[in-house]
Amino acid sequence: MAEPEQLVVEAERQAAAAATLDELRAVRVAVSGKRSPLADARKALGGLEPEARRAAGQALNAAMASIDEILTAREAELAAVARAEQLAAERLDLTEVAEHPAHGHLHVVTQTWQELEDVFVGMGYRVAEGPEIESEWYNFGALNFPPGHPARDMYDTLYVDYGEPGTTLLRTHTSPVQARVMEGQAPPVYVVAPGRCFRQDTADATHMPVFHQIEGLVVDRGISLGDLAGTIEAFTAAYFGPGFSSRLRPSYFPFTEPSAEFDIQRPDGTWLELGGCGMVHPKVFEACGIDPEQWQGFAFGFGIDRLALIRFGIDDLRELWTNDVRFLGQF
Ligand code: PHE
Repeated sequence: MAEPEQLVVEAERQAAAAATLDELRAVRVAVSGKRSPLADARKALGGLEPEARRAAGQALNAAMASIDEILTAREAELAAVARAEQLAAERLDLTEVAEHPAHGHLHVVTQTWQELEDVFVGMGYRVAEGPEIESEWYNFGALNFPPGHPARDMYDTLYVDYGEPGTTLLRTHTSPVQARVMEGQAPPVYVVAPGRCFRQDTADATHMPVFHQIEGLVVDRGISLGDLAGTIEAFTAAYFGPGFSSRLRPSYFPFTEPSAEFDIQRPDGTWLELGGCGMVHPKVFEACGIDPEQWQGFAFGFGIDRLALIRFGIDDLRELWTNDVRFLGQF
C-alpha cells in the first residue's frame, strides 16, 4: 500500500503536468476518484487494528486535504491562463488596418471654395456669409432692381412659399451678402462671400439649379475701376498661376456702374468667361446707408463650380453632384 506522503507527491507531480483544465479534471479522477490509490488506501483501513486504523486514518485524511488543496490551486492557475488566452483571442486590435487604407478627401467644390477663400484672405479680405433663403429686398431691391425691372428676368428665381407671395426666395446669387455686409459695418470693407445659390435651371453640362458663387466687395476711399481690374488680375495670377491673365468686357448689372464681365486667358491663349463685376452703384450705397460721395467700391462674383471644372479638367457639372466616389476619388 502506498504511503500517504507518496500519494501527495504523486498528485503534485500529475497536477503540475496537467496543461489544461480538462487534463486536470482527469488528474483529479486519477488521484482522488473512486478507483484511485487514495480510495484503495481508505478501503484498506478496515483491515487494521483500531489503534493503527486511527493513526493511518488521520494520515490519509491529511493527505486527502493536501491533494485537494494542490488540485484547487492548480485549477485556479489553469483557469487564469485559459481566461487570458480567451481575452487575447477576443481582443479587437484597433491598430489593425487594411494594408492600403482608403483615405477620403474634400469634395472638389469644397477644395476650390477653400482655395479661393485662402487666396482672398491672403489679399487681406475677410470671409462673410448670408442666408440661402433670402428676402426679395436683399436679393433684388437693395441691389437696385426695381420691382418689375426686366433685369430680374435674368435670374430664374425660385420663390419660397412664405409671407406675401414673391417676398421670400432662394438667393439667385451671392450679391445680397454685399447689402447685408454694408448695412452691418462701416467702411472700409474688404470681404468675400462664398455660398450656395439657386436658379430654376435645368441640369446640363454647364448649369445646375443649385450652384456656388463667391462674391467680392471692397468699399474704401478713392477706389477706382483700376483697382477692380488690378484685383482681378492679382487674383488670377494667385489662383491660376503664371501664364494666366484677365480682361474686363462691358456688361450690365443693375447694382454696378460701370459693369463688366471678366474673362481669364489660359496660357494657350483661349479665353474663359468667369464672372461679373463692376463699381458699386450709388443707389446700392444709398440703400445700405453709405454716402456715395465719400466712399467708392467695387464688387465681383463668379461661379465656384465652373472654376472647379477648369481646375480639375472635368467637363460636366453634373459629375460634381453624382457623388460617385470612384469618380471624385481621382481629384
Ligand atoms: N451677381 C452677379 C451674377 O450672379 C455677378 C456680379 C457680382 C456682378 C458682383 C457684378 C458684381 O450674375
